[in-house]
Amino acid sequence: MRRRLLALVVSGSLAAGALMSACGSDGGTDVKLSVQGERGRTVAEEQGCTSCHTSDGSKGVGPSWKGMAGSKIELNDGSTVVADDEYLRAAILDGRSQVVKGYANIMPVYKGELSDSQVEDLIAFFNDLAAPTPEN
Ligand code: HEC
Repeated sequence: MRRRLLALVVSGSLAAGALMSACGSDGGTDVKLSVQGERGRTVAEEQGCTSCHTSDGSKGVGPSWKGMAGSKIELNDGSTVVADDEYLRAAILDGRSQVVKGYANIMPVYKGELSDSQVEDLIAFFNDLAAPTPEN
């Protein structure tokens, strides 16, 4: 009796897991996230960032976050910057201060909307997405 109950619970959670990975509402990332990166992903979902950004490399209204951190970013003024933590912080808080080439200057300003720790968590998330994934 006990065993059957356990089997039920296990198969139930497996099904839920399969469903969740199938729908990929988070923009679909299969990268292993750090604890802080996981929090950052939650912040991105709660703040609605993922309606414009993906984590899987596909282009949305804004650039994908996959492989962004640490890469060279071309801006619409013709300059190139490296997406270090400082750039990422500025891009999150005031996207209008530097606009990625090929994209519209429509990202909302989040200065005053996000706490320092939310911004730190987002940056950790972006850095996780930049990390090489040996499994792939
Ligand atoms: C209405 C759509 C929209 C929303 C919502 C939005 N963004 Fe953006 N974001 C953009 C666009 C468009 C760009 C590219 C133009 C620019 O740099 O401003 C961008 C650029 C960025 C960049 C720089 C990307 C790069 O490749 O250099 C980061 C980082 C970023 N957004 C993070 C966020 C975060 C975090 C949130 C939520 C707190 C968010 N965005 C919400 C549209 C959006």
